[in-house]
Amino acid sequence: MNFLDPKLEDYLAQHHTEEPELLARLNRETHLKVLQPRMLSGPLQGRFLAFLSKLLAPKYILEIGTYTGYSALCLAEGLAPDGELHTLELNDELETMALSYFKAAGYSTQINMHIGDALQSLETLSRPWDLVFIDADKPRYLDYYQKVIEQMPRGGIILADNVLWSGKVLEKPDPNDESTLALLEFNTFVQEDDRVENVLLPLRDGLMCIRKK
Ligand SMILES: C[S@@+](CC[C@H](N)C(=O)[O-])C[C@H]1O[C@@H](n2cnc3c(N)ncnc32)[C@H](O)[C@@H]1O
Repeated sequence: MNFLDPKLEDYLAQHHTEEPELLARLNRETHLKVLQPRMLSGPLQGRFLAFLSKLLAPKYILEIGTYTGYSALCLAEGLAPDGELHTLELNDELETMALSYFKAAGYSTQINMHIGDALQSLETLSRPWDLVFIDADKPRYLDYYQKVIEQMPRGGIILADNVLWSGKVLEKPDPNDESTLALLEFNTFVQEDDRVENVLLPLRDGLMCIRKK
């Protein structure tokens, strides 16, 4: 869901740096060939991810939820020359397409795609993450957060996508709605966590930005 007036959304779309041509191609191909293309971050959020990554120049980036690789490529734009980006994805059917775009963008040695359940992949993957993008499997957001926050240096940034969950976090939750309940718990936990400072941006479906103190 988008919370913004469509006219404002158009105006915002006219006032960010243009989506690189390769990303526009990936965006189009995803819409043509892959189920649920609305999962892809898109140009506005993508340019924000790239902008933030360029500010941080991270050495170690972690992404949870690759999908077709759009946000990974945006995050990689700021990667340090000797940096590594690790992106975790459950669905092996997405691997060929994502890897072909990582190669086309010149990142085949720096972007590592790990197929499998993200929590399991994280058991064997430990780095001092400078930048983490959590964008998969809403019921596990807090598990991912708890796992990575310990590994991060001071100043490390976590971005968690979809934390407004189409506005469902504002309503009385259905007791069977696991994702909404988990996101409510996640947002409250972050808000009360003394280890971090945070700001929830109404970008797209809600982006929680968290900085380790
Ligand atoms: C919202 S999409 C990611 C979109 C991508 N970050 C982007 O902006 O282009 C979420 C992805 O997480 C994957 N996923 C879901 N559960 C997962 C799990 N337990 N471990 C790893 N990936 C998972 C889904 O297959 C899906 O491709």
